[in-house]
Amino acid sequence: MTKEEILSAFRYRHACKEFDTNKIIPKEDFDFILETARLSPSSFGLEPWHFVVVQDPALREALKENAWGAPKKLDTASHFLLGLTMKSTLMKWDTAYLQDFMRRVQDLPEEVIQGKSKFIEQYQKSDFELTDDRRLFDWAAKQSYIAMGNMMTAAAMIGIDSCPIEGFKQETTEQILKDKLGIDTDKYGISYMLAFGYRVVEPREKTRRCIDEVVTWK
Ligand SMILES: Cc1cc2nc3c(=O)[nH]c(=O)nc-3n(C[C@H](O)[C@H](O)[C@H](O)COP(=O)(O)O)c2cc1C
Repeated sequence: MTKEEILSAFRYRHACKEFDTNKIIPKEDFDFILETARLSPSSFGLEPWHFVVVQDPALREALKENAWGAPKKLDTASHFLLGLTMKSTLMKWDTAYLQDFMRRVQDLPEEVIQGKSKFIEQYQKSDFELTDDRRLFDWAAKQSYIAMGNMMTAAAMIGIDSCPIEGFKQETTEQILKDKLGIDTDKYGISYMLAFGYRVVEPREKTRRCIDEVVTWK
């Protein structure tokens, strides 16, 4: 791809408010989008995310109640994703989950796992002061958003529209995740929703500050 083609995908991407209900994203294309999330970078490579794709109309309806930023997207999106983030029960430096993750996924030898755990401990306790559940969750959530950005860009590159959504009540939505979607909310919280599909109307022209206002060179 040329630089101009990549930039035109960035220009093409916009927060799409309503999708064409006659068009469904092909499985192969949505798998491609999910793969860009899976391959996203994260601090220490801990992948503190999980993605739930909600296609059941009844579950989408249930999500609407507390999601003021989402109703039209829940009604019209071809695919509707929930971006979950791991909580401190999984992400704190001393959890069994992290030990197992480093062994099973990262394929690290025991002595390296011990060293890395100590490093993560120091990082969480002192470098970034991730000293309570909320701070740890917000730190992990920042990384979940990298996957979100990658999914939106990847989608735009293949002509698929998207809309990121934070317009919902976190606590009550989590209760719905627990009650209706069977998600273990002791382990996962919701960071964002992300709708995908195909636009019905062209967006207004993008507004952004100029490059000199957003970049400083020293
Ligand atoms: C984290 C985040 C949360 C957002 N939440 C909502 C939302 O709840 N509903 C909505 O319609 N748009 C939402 N947006 C879209 C923004 O309003 C939009 O990206 C911004 O105005 C820039 O416009 P553009 O994406 O079309 O270039 C959100 C965007 C981000 C990045």
